[in-house]
Amino acid sequence: MMEIYLDNGATTKPFEEVIDKMCKILKQDYGNPSSLHKKGIDAEKHVTESKDIFSKILKVNSKEIYFTSGGTESNNLAILGVANAYKRSGKHIITTSMEHSSVKNTIINLEDNEYEITVLPVNSEGLINLDELKESIRKDTILVSIMHVNNEIGSVMPIKEIGKLIKEVNKETIFHVDAIQSFGKFNIYPQKWNIDLLSISGHKFHAPKGIGVIYINNNIKISPIIFGGYQQNGIRSGTENIPGIVAITYAAKIMYDNLDDNVQYLYKLKKYLAEKLVDEIPEVFINGMNVNKGAPNILSIRFNNIRGEVLLHSLEEKQIYVSTGSACSSNKPSKSGPLQSIGLTNEEALSTIRFSFSINNTIEELNKCVEEIKKVVPMLRKFVRH
Ligand SMILES: Cc1ncc(COP(=O)(O)O)c(C=O)c1O
Repeated sequence: MMEIYLDNGATTKPFEEVIDKMCKILKQDYGNPSSLHKKGIDAEKHVTESKDIFSKILKVNSKEIYFTSGGTESNNLAILGVANAYKRSGKHIITTSMEHSSVKNTIINLEDNEYEITVLPVNSEGLINLDELKESIRKDTILVSIMHVNNEIGSVMPIKEIGKLIKEVNKETIFHVDAIQSFGKFNIYPQKWNIDLLSISGHKFHAPKGIGVIYINNNIKISPIIFGGYQQNGIRSGTENIPGIVAITYAAKIMYDNLDDNVQYLYKLKKYLAEKLVDEIPEVFINGMNVNKGAPNILSIRFNNIRGEVLLHSLEEKQIYVSTGSACSSNKPSKSGPLQSIGLTNEEALSTIRFSFSINNTIEELNKCVEEIKKVVPMLRKFVRH
């Protein structure tokens, strides 16, 4: 049976070339970049080269690139790092109701420590109201943390506009963007877009898990959350994960060398599946943004009168892998946060399936997926109605 992986928002399969590079590093360049001898210098070169490549992709200074253990750590460092460094300037933080748990729970933790939090609601497309954002920025607002692409419904926040607006109201307010779902699918320019902190995670674009990046604007202060040997200027202590760093950099390079073609191909897959499901199966609805406006790789669909989880397991039997909400929240039995935020009822949220694509997927796979869904949906609906 052909395995069809349509859960690339949860994680992606590492590129073969990336695995090969990593293996080579593990075998040959195993030195510690802090060592003074040749093995150390060779390892250090990989860090420098990687920072250079990331700085070119983001059009920033290479000294503003730091490697972390992944998206969760980058988000934690951004939020806790700013909260701690700027606590004398203010304790007000703004975020949205759509954020990933690695942002949401970090901010909740700050609320317990006397920070004041404003959570902006979103509309049915998953977008905040910019006037509301403008009104909520105060003199003591030290941080605004807003995601670029939502992991569950694929909504795309107008980050450039948001950055401009924040700095117009209060130029001291720091802007953090969780770009974990958008990096590799969008051009992102922190300097031009007034982004001070940007979180990136390797396993969302064909690098392995456990490696991430954070861009930190040189002009802002940040308190470390990990203390140790003062690697990466003390901002992120700990011996650098050289195989991971080389892997995330190489994967990023592959994504950005072919960005336009990749994005076009992802949209083609997404539109094809959306059209087929909506046209060929009754009572199927797309959540959030119009297919052309949302992220190229995420399609959130509800199948009325069906439990998403039951459909997921039926497809799993055919080796077709999809997701209900996001993988990170699928251990929660209730409806997911973003689906609730865009105004879905409990029933609607529970009937949602997220299909998320990668450039490795094919139209043939989507045809097979639709064929199986068409077989199983009527059976599951009969079962629910009885
Ligand atoms: C939007 C978003 N932010 C943060 C994360 C966490 O990233 P990581 O899995 O690298 O810790 C995820 C992972 O799904 C995500 O989708």
